[in-house]
Amino acid sequence: MKDLSDIFPAPPADIDLAQLDVARIPQHVAVIMDGNGRWAKARALNRLRGHKAGIEAVRETIRCANDLGVRYLTIYSFSTENWKRPEDEVVGLMNLFAKTMLAEVDELHEEGVRVMTIGDLSPLPAETREAFQAAWEQTRHNQGMTLVVAVNYGGRAEIVQAANDFMREAAAVAAAGGEPPVLTEELLARHLATAGIPDPEMLIRTSGEQRLSNFLLWQVAYAELVCSDVLWPDFDRYEFLRCLLDYQGRDRRFGAL
Ligand code: IPE
Ligand code: IPE
Ligand code: MG
Repeated sequence: MKDLSDIFPAPPADIDLAQLDVARIPQHVAVIMDGNGRWAKARALNRLRGHKAGIEAVRETIRCANDLGVRYLTIYSFSTENWKRPEDEVVGLMNLFAKTMLAEVDELHEEGVRVMTIGDLSPLPAETREAFQAAWEQTRHNQGMTLVVAVNYGGRAEIVQAANDFMREAAAVAAAGGEPPVLTEELLARHLATAGIPDPEMLIRTSGEQRLSNFLLWQVAYAELVCSDVLWPDFDRYEFLRCLLDYQGRDRRFGAL
């Protein structure tokens, strides 16, 4: 890991860098990046300008998480419900995803980041789908942090798909004359899009909202929810650090005493 003072060269007065326990950095951080629209509205700008401004916050969060040794960073970029937004915003977001992925992938690759997606890419415009697929192809053998981009992702849809996959397998076993397996938590988890990825220890949501909005419903069963009042385009490494300090101050009991 880099030196903390290199990762955080100028901490604001409210932050004591010495409080951060580098041995307790979460392995997996999930982020609901919210507030782009309100950020734009406050500046009398089009909502898409807010999404564009949010890209810089994504860049900074990826770099900071990677520098700190976070193994998985999952970012909620487009939900299964976001199709309900006006067409120009949806189209603008899809174009922004494609453009950003193409522009960023080489640098991510150099940093050893592995880029994958969760969610159903099939309804996406071809350009956007192909940009994500190309990023996966280019970076899939990297050993650094895994960046999981949740796009057209919904937690309920993911669980239903996992259950259907399991039932199909069980039916095939039965059809071959075998004893069909009984569904367990472990088996269901193995059919989720996040199979093989440890559950997030911390879930950050920005913009002051305090809800899950259908994000990682299964995986966040015991995640610490950290709500930040900052609008996503204003999120930076120091706000990320505040979230980590908040997380490290929690008493994680997992039902025990
Ligand atoms: C989050 O910002 C980004 C996406 C959902 C793509 P919003 O667009 O939800 O911003 P607000 O909540 O309207 O401020
Ligand atoms: C959640 O934010 C989805 C993403 C961040 C991609 P929304 O802004 O869509 O969620 P709600 O509508 O406030 O629940
Ligand atoms: Mg929102």
